Amino acid sequence: MPASHTNFDVAKVRADFPILNQLVNGHPLVYLDNAATTQKPQAVIDALVHYYTCDNSNVHRGAHTLSDRATAKFEAARKTVAAFINAESASQIIWTRGSSESINLVAASWGGANLKSGDRILVSALEHHSNIVPWQMIAEKTCASVVPIPVDESGTINMVAFSALLDSRVKMVAVNQVSNALGTINPVEEIIRLAHSVGAKVLVDGAQAIAHWPVDVQAINCDFYAFSGHKLFGPTGIGVLYGKRELLEQMPPYQGGGEMIETVSFDGTTYNQLPYKFEAGTPDIAGAIGLAAAIDYLNSLDRVALAAHEDALLAYATKKALAVPGLKIIGTAQSKAAVLGFVLEGIHPSDIGMLLDQQGIAVRTGHHCAQPLMEQYGIPGTVRASFSFYNTFDDIDRLFAALEKVRQLLL
Ligand code: ALA
Repeated sequence: MPASHTNFDVAKVRADFPILNQLVNGHPLVYLDNAATTQKPQAVIDALVHYYTCDNSNVHRGAHTLSDRATAKFEAARKTVAAFINAESASQIIWTRGSSESINLVAASWGGANLKSGDRILVSALEHHSNIVPWQMIAEKTCASVVPIPVDESGTINMVAFSALLDSRVKMVAVNQVSNALGTINPVEEIIRLAHSVGAKVLVDGAQAIAHWPVDVQAINCDFYAFSGHKLFGPTGIGVLYGKRELLEQMPPYQGGGEMIETVSFDGTTYNQLPYKFEAGTPDIAGAIGLAAAIDYLNSLDRVALAAHEDALLAYATKKALAVPGLKIIGTAQSKAAVLGFVLEGIHPSDIGMLLDQQGIAVRTGHHCAQPLMEQYGIPGTVRASFSFYNTFDDIDRLFAALEKVRQLLL
């Protein structure tokens, strides 16, 4: 299939990502590990270099020009994120280290204040460990319980079973918008509507969705939304927690330290207003500025065309996968983001990953931090190719040609 299969000008955007233009093990790099982390456009790299070259200073503290400049850019980045996900206000955007920390914050702070013995937290069987373990930790402390929402053979949440689980014991429903291991797109609006009908709050883990299409937190009406900068073409080490104002206002601080206080004395401490109440210590200033640069870059592209290109890549890869003898696709939900997970009869996923790497092809292999899901399929793990808008149909041809070589070598 020609690279011009969709009207999207993939060569033009690839030129914005310098890392893609290199040889790996003697072959042109084919980067198909976008669900693990996305590559960074030059605009993000430039923003980081510019910040450290010209503006580096601590925020909200200094009585000097550099600090004012750093603070202005850091707070402008918060506004950029708020607009990007259509949050009501920038004060509802809390900087974290990533989705995992965002979820840990909600579990520890909201969960610690609101959960009690007998309460239930529903998490789907599709979740990444980072949307399971923080809930198990707070459940242990509060004597609440974590209950999995069943998923069928295709990797689709069983909505009948979900509805049957909903009752007044359920206080939190935590689900991803897209499964990292399978690519399933979950019907979060419907899940949120049903959860709210029994008074439960909903946290959406948007780590795998945020790069693929515009997210509107008010339209989906989630209580909390978490995502990571590095999966959105931004730097590692920066993440976002969005929360509804009244919930964030009621929640106690997550960590103590500088920035999150209003006054400190040995007679007692009062806490800062939102969002600073949740931001103890010097934040990842460069990361926030880099993330805003990534969002500006993404906003400069036609996101409808990007999504259509990714859908076309997934459809093309799926068709090719179905023609490979002994290959089984893991994750066949009707609604999927650009993730292709598979196993190949008789060959361990990690051997496939290693042999693909020797041919310049980067994929992830293993359980993808979703061990309960792999257990359901009765497999130790999969090979996962995950696509972004800078991937080409030629990348997919290279993947399947390399896979054929693996089969010939090992079978
Ligand atoms: N959560 C990331 C992945 O699925 C690291 O690969």
